[in-house]
Amino acid sequence: MGSTRLVLLLLLLLLASPESVLNERPGDGCGHMVVHQESGTLTSMNYPNTYPNYTFCERRIQVPEGKKLLIKFGDVDIETQDCESSYLKIFSDSSKLEYAYCGTERAAPKEIFLDVNEAIVRFESGSHISGRGFLLNYASSEHPDLITCLERASHYFETMHSKFCPAGCRDVVGDVYGDAADGYRDTSVLCRAAIHAGVIADELGGQIHVIQHKGASQYDAMLANGILSQDGSLSDRRFTFTSNGCSRSLTVESSIVPSEQVTASSSWTWTSATSENLQWHPEQALLQNKGPSWASNHSSSREWLQIDLGKRERITGIITRGSMLPNFNFFVETYVIKFTKEGSKWKTYKGPLGKEEKIFKGNSNYLDTARNTFFPPLVARFVRIVPQTWHQRIALKAELLGCPITQVYNPSSHPSWPQKNQSTGISIVKEPRTITDPIPSEKSDLGERQKGILIVELMPRKQAAGRRLTLRLSDTSLQSSASAITKKMKACKSWIFSHVIKQITSCLS
Ligand SMILES: *[C@@H]1O[C@H](CO)[C@@H](O)[C@H](O)[C@H]1NC(C)=O
Ligand SMILES: *[C@@H]1O[C@H](CO)[C@@H](O)[C@H](O)[C@H]1NC(C)=O
Ligand SMILES: *[C@@H]1O[C@H](CO)[C@@H](O)[C@H](O)[C@H]1NC(C)=O
Repeated sequence: MGSTRLVLLLLLLLLASPESVLNERPGDGCGHMVVHQESGTLTSMNYPNTYPNYTFCERRIQVPEGKKLLIKFGDVDIETQDCESSYLKIFSDSSKLEYAYCGTERAAPKEIFLDVNEAIVRFESGSHISGRGFLLNYASSEHPDLITCLERASHYFETMHSKFCPAGCRDVVGDVYGDAADGYRDTSVLCRAAIHAGVIADELGGQIHVIQHKGASQYDAMLANGILSQDGSLSDRRFTFTSNGCSRSLTVESSIVPSEQVTASSSWTWTSATSENLQWHPEQALLQNKGPSWASNHSSSREWLQIDLGKRERITGIITRGSMLPNFNFFVETYVIKFTKEGSKWKTYKGPLGKEEKIFKGNSNYLDTARNTFFPPLVARFVRIVPQTWHQRIALKAELLGCPITQVYNPSSHPSWPQKNQSTGISIVKEPRTITDPIPSEKSDLGERQKGILIVELMPRKQAAGRRLTLRLSDTSLQSSASAITKKMKACKSWIFSHVIKQITSCLS
């Protein structure tokens, strides 16, 4: 009898203590939230737009036991009321108030270190007109170099620096200009750019290694890892990330003939009113093959496209495109990946958290490329792309990226992205492997002239597919070839540099 009363009393005490239990009210004031075990992102509803009237949000955040919590505030903007109706407060697990922002503090701290591994974030609003609410990031104190999702490269001046990006920055508003290969404009937000480049997974966050360079005159938009970067213009500086260098084209390097390398569940033949046929064979799915893509005869989530790499490879990414023909506005919007080492026992790729199958965001039109990175990389010989949603009909071109399984896997050492001639802005080499090859100079010590053939491809900018201009620049030094390309590009603005197809150098005395 007495013990029951004691339990009841304790229960009442617990319920009455406002900071020790999570509030029962729904967190309708919570916005984008990604809470991973090492780091995360929390925002108020509608961030960075005005948060709703009379709203409430409460969330417990924690890092593994034994570690300590570091919280950084990217943005806090709450309209002044009183500290009872409009605030952002943080309580450590011992229900101690560690931080309070009530709209009036001029010098609220930008970051707080707690002595514990858990905290409760609570946000409440009354009636108000304006205010963005809040964005905060957290990590364990093992990552004092944590930055928020809002930090831009232009905030830092070191030529090389390393920072820790929290999980969950992908879906936070912030501009990214450019792409991994040629670099990002310095006004881009760092962590979204790192997800775009494929150096970290949004689900996990992670350490990034940034190299700053002289700016470029132009930055091209690209869809990668669910982020559409934007076209950008001239800036003083740009930046790239270092990564493992495991991103060569496995489909181009494969020794298997295309008709055996690619197979599919079905393929389509289109017949015109005048009985002309247009074939959409599986081998047309290889990105390096010109013309229309592969298309399936029927459209269902049971269709697949299979690539055989000939041997087991470490596969780190995939690039896809749609039909390539404006009259056939077909493309795959989402897909899953299946893979196998020997050709039987297919597994579905699950992504960094290893829970349910990962659904990749594919293309958004018939022409542009979309890149996705595999975290962690997969080791396989056969890969199947299984479309889940598509526009009108399943049509696909694909390229797998990676490296041999024997390659040393060290994510933070080798600069993997092609280097550029700073003044011409042209990537001299496409493959990371050749970066270390000396760039041929006009004259060597012996007075020999190094000559070479540089075959590059120019693509029309946002025009009908299939129109390409290939420049063959032979018997000239590579340096002057590069400047010839720049001139050509300046002369006709509608063409953009696509890629170096081949670079052959030889030493002629
Ligand atoms: C909150 O309510 C007031 C009064 O009805 C209104 O003027 C204001 O626009 C509302 N604010 C928001 C963010 O909806
Ligand atoms: C596509 O499907 C149609 C109808 O089911 C069938 O008649 C046709 O033979 C198929 N075409 C190919 C190329 O398999
Ligand atoms: C870059 O290109 C310019 C013009 O072609 C050339 O003068 C310069 O030496 C090149 N720089 C490097 C580092 O290759």
